[in-house]
Amino acid sequence: MHENEKLGYDRREFLRGSTAIAGATAAGVLLPTGISLAQQAKLKVGLMLPYTGTYAQLGVAITNGFKLAVEERGGKLGGREIEYFTVDDESNPAKAPENTNKLVQRDKVDVVIGTVHSGVAMGMAKVIRESGTLWINPNAGADEVTGPLCAPNFFRTSFSNWQTTHALGKVLKAKGHKTAVFITWKYAAGEQMMAGFKEGFEKEGGKLTKELYVPFPQVEFQALLTEIASIKPDAVVAFFAGGGAAKFLKDYQAAGLKGKIPLYGSGFLTDGVLEAVGDAAEGIETTLHYADGLDTKKDKAFRLAYAKAFKLQPDVYAVQGYDAGQLLAAGMDAVKGNIGDKAAMIKAMEAAKIDSPRGPWTLSKSHNPVQDMYLRKVVGKENKVQGVAWKALADPARGCKA
Ligand code: BEZ
Repeated sequence: MHENEKLGYDRREFLRGSTAIAGATAAGVLLPTGISLAQQAKLKVGLMLPYTGTYAQLGVAITNGFKLAVEERGGKLGGREIEYFTVDDESNPAKAPENTNKLVQRDKVDVVIGTVHSGVAMGMAKVIRESGTLWINPNAGADEVTGPLCAPNFFRTSFSNWQTTHALGKVLKAKGHKTAVFITWKYAAGEQMMAGFKEGFEKEGGKLTKELYVPFPQVEFQALLTEIASIKPDAVVAFFAGGGAAKFLKDYQAAGLKGKIPLYGSGFLTDGVLEAVGDAAEGIETTLHYADGLDTKKDKAFRLAYAKAFKLQPDVYAVQGYDAGQLLAAGMDAVKGNIGDKAAMIKAMEAAKIDSPRGPWTLSKSHNPVQDMYLRKVVGKENKVQGVAWKALADPARGCKA
């Protein structure tokens, strides 16, 4: 990050803070001695997530996880109560700038938490870069966000798309697979997970023989499944998530491919969908930064608290939302609620060691988690951990100048 950009950013924030204080004084608001304006006002948190469409469940899980982290801190971060502002982004990239502006310009939130869909995240990045608002991304893996578009106020508590499939190359090699076909939705997340897999698999001597795409969020897989049957690769690797993943798993089984051509994927393929797919996912192996059966104190406590609060089992999305709350808490505690002190806030967030249900993680220079990638296998209704497929995997952050 160039120094002048940093300065420009801090100055804007400083001016915004000064205007607020000047306004309060003009309005005759007298602050009791020793209590700052920042401590009195509620922290405005903008949640921009999908609450409708194929990723709706993911948006809800992230929201739940975030709110759980806040509730565990007595409903306050850095001593300040929270006021939530919510926008349903519908996983629609075309509406992303307008939706982001609802939070940033209209509601004047202090921090934006969002989103799920990589294309929407790309639309958010431009608006948030210009406003200088703090942004914590609890899912969308768009490589660019912690790559060429990286910025001091952009943080991610989830993954880069590259990270989620890169370790699969080693996994397939260990199984003796030499050829693979990748099938996914045609948008940034699918394309980047495909590229991450290809890089890892080809490093191991494997060959990606075909890339197959379906427009997002369509779920008509039949023609491509017929093509896979005729290609007969050693393995199929897939990225789908939410409702689309459930439909794909059922169609793969119905097409007679399950048990004939082994299916792998980034763990989104099987996370949060096992209740919906019967035995269609049984035995499928995936890589992801969370798994069932980690058996750590932190994970057990989190799962218990989540189940108690929401009458639901948590999944990877809930963990990412929870960690977004934990990361924000680390920054807010460091500045004692004065989010206007952006430089100190960012410094504290950069240095945070997050005690996550997934295992402890820290941020890379480009503000993306450096984390273990687990190998998981579907056993009944669980994505059971099999081991660590890649220890402390860091995104290469290609193009990030920070
Ligand atoms: C994405 O668009 O980045 C994404 C969506 C769902 C799960 C994982 C990644």
